[in-house]
Amino acid sequence: MDAEIGRWSAAIIRMADVMMTDEQKQDARDGLIHFKAYLKEQIIIRRKNPGDTLMDMAIRALDDGTMSEDETLINLLSMVIAGHETTVSLLSSGLYLLLKNPEAMTKLRSDRSHMKTAIEEFMRIEPGGNMILRIAKSDYDVAGTTIPAGELVMGLIGATNRDSNKFSNPDQFDITRSPNAQLTFGGGPHVCIGASLARLETDIAFSSLLDSFSSIELAGTPEWRLDRVNARGLKNLPITLEHKS
Ligand code: HEM
Repeated sequence: MDAEIGRWSAAIIRMADVMMTDEQKQDARDGLIHFKAYLKEQIIIRRKNPGDTLMDMAIRALDDGTMSEDETLINLLSMVIAGHETTVSLLSSGLYLLLKNPEAMTKLRSDRSHMKTAIEEFMRIEPGGNMILRIAKSDYDVAGTTIPAGELVMGLIGATNRDSNKFSNPDQFDITRSPNAQLTFGGGPHVCIGASLARLETDIAFSSLLDSFSSIELAGTPEWRLDRVNARGLKNLPITLEHKS
């Protein structure tokens, strides 16, 4: 089932991409149907044995009429999808950044107090989600150009994260960079609800990696997924690991 959820998530997350083929659109629609059906079954199972998880809270909101069935399914589904591929990409891109910058890997290994700033820097350099999409509610002026009401606006996170007015040496990877006001989790009312969880997961993953392995090396040329505009991430990252004795 985990593999199926992974496959549905990967297909559905493509809906946020502006470069979709008809086949991918169909995969996303199919993924949505399967995922919703799976969640409906899970809701029935969970109702028999209620607990205190986020899913139980959503079921209570469904049962007391706070959310409709579709709202409940979409909220649950968004939580899994928004939190799955994004974090997977951050883990692999962050590791690749360290592998490309061995002095940074050594620094982090020898002084874990750099972990928090390192994670912010992984996100600044490799935001994963490349763009935030909005529709202008009214005419809006940006540096002399008017965006007319009703137009689609793409906020390019990767570009803002390397804005030289905001960051010194923006193309330089620096695990001690502070302050680091990267916009990888977006901003405003829809700022990522899972930001703290993603930071925590990344901290745990990198701490465990560095604790468990005395050496982590690149074992080939990694490949990026080149078939999408949004959701940038690695297709594979060949590495060799040496266990600590
Ligand atoms: C590195 C990991 C992550 C990245 C880069 C990321 C990025 C983002 C961004 C940019 C947005 C704003 C989208 C917009 O304004 O249109 C967002 C929203 C959201 N994220 Fe994340 N996210 C990550 C992890 C997570 C996790 C772990 C969860 C949940 C478990 C999560 C759940 C959500 C949800 C539900 C929203 C929608 C919030 C709303 O519309 O009010 N995300 N995320």
